[in-house]
Amino acid sequence: MNYIGSKYSLLDFLETSIENVAGKNGQTFCDLFAGTGAVGSHFKKLGYKITANDIQYYSYVLNRHYIGNSKPMRFNGLADIITSKMLPENPAAAVCDYLSQLDGTEGFLYKNYAPTGSQKNGTQRIYFSDENAMKCDAVRTQIEDWKTDGKITENEYYFLLASLLESIDARANTASIYGAFLKKLKKTARKPLQLRAVNLIEDDKDHDVYQSDVNVLIKKISGDIFYLDPPYNHRQYGANYHLLETAARYDSPSIHGKTGLRDEEIRSAYCLRSSVKQAFTDLIMNADAKYIFVSYNNEGIMPLDDIQNILGKRGEYGCFTKQYRRFKADAETNRRIGEKETTEYLHYVKVK
Ligand SMILES: C[S@@+](CC[C@H](N)C(=O)[O-])C[C@H]1O[C@@H](n2cnc3c(N)ncnc32)[C@H](O)[C@@H]1O
Repeated sequence: MNYIGSKYSLLDFLETSIENVAGKNGQTFCDLFAGTGAVGSHFKKLGYKITANDIQYYSYVLNRHYIGNSKPMRFNGLADIITSKMLPENPAAAVCDYLSQLDGTEGFLYKNYAPTGSQKNGTQRIYFSDENAMKCDAVRTQIEDWKTDGKITENEYYFLLASLLESIDARANTASIYGAFLKKLKKTARKPLQLRAVNLIEDDKDHDVYQSDVNVLIKKISGDIFYLDPPYNHRQYGANYHLLETAARYDSPSIHGKTGLRDEEIRSAYCLRSSVKQAFTDLIMNADAKYIFVSYNNEGIMPLDDIQNILGKRGEYGCFTKQYRRFKADAETNRRIGEKETTEYLHYVKVK
């Protein structure tokens, strides 16, 4: 998923830098602003026991699958569907295949985010083709019905929701974030939505996944390595990914405006100049970890001096840097046109 601040392209840098400081001893790794789960997934594959957390529910869903699920899905409660498919030896793919072939329904996503449905409701929004929005509604409703009827386990439920979110993201008619839609359906948005089974990272550990404000959770957990990747600027994730939040919750929220934002939106203290320093200080002072690592680039709303001073209160401070290409949407909207490279900082403190 193309996500603001995703560390997908920085995983090697993170692994090398973190293991350089903390060693390679298979410790606990807490990814506390987890987003897509890319960093936690990487360290899960390296053998760490993971705690993942994010304030958004769509992120919880992704992490509940990528981090929380470690064994293949059997879908025993859907045996009739699986045996009727061509792939009975791969139940997860067979169930995704079944869902992909459901007839679409005129549900919440169609009525509010597809061209024809939303126009009937008064404000045209072109986040999906009509067909894909109806397919999403049908698939999302079926997943919930299976859960309510006890036909799928909790692990299977989150596997299916994560597969749906990734598939939605691949067909959304946006320039990568959901703060706006494109005026015409782009090529990928015109292709039919197919539910693709998301990857599973198998292992034998019990991992923990939370949806919590990090400043609340920090007082309840401990670990060897805390990895903190807060938002850098004013762009709230709740607004920029509102459609993923609504597809994940499927709670028919009250919405408003040209883009159909949720009326009740989660707001982060890390996106406001007035609150970020206090929130970050509180977080670091309450962190019960041997090592704290913080990703923050040189264009964030919190000055690098502040980060250094706050981390320095807990022990020996250090920092790694790497030049890398900025996120696509930043490159498109950044006023310093032509500047595609940015410096990524990984600050750390060895806690005393
Ligand atoms: C820079 S992104 C993390 C990206 C992630 N490392 C990845 O590679 O996908 C920041 C994340 O922090 C989350 N967030 C913002 N405020 C938060 C808070 N107070 N508590 C927990 N998570 C928060 C956002 O929802 C967002 O997913």
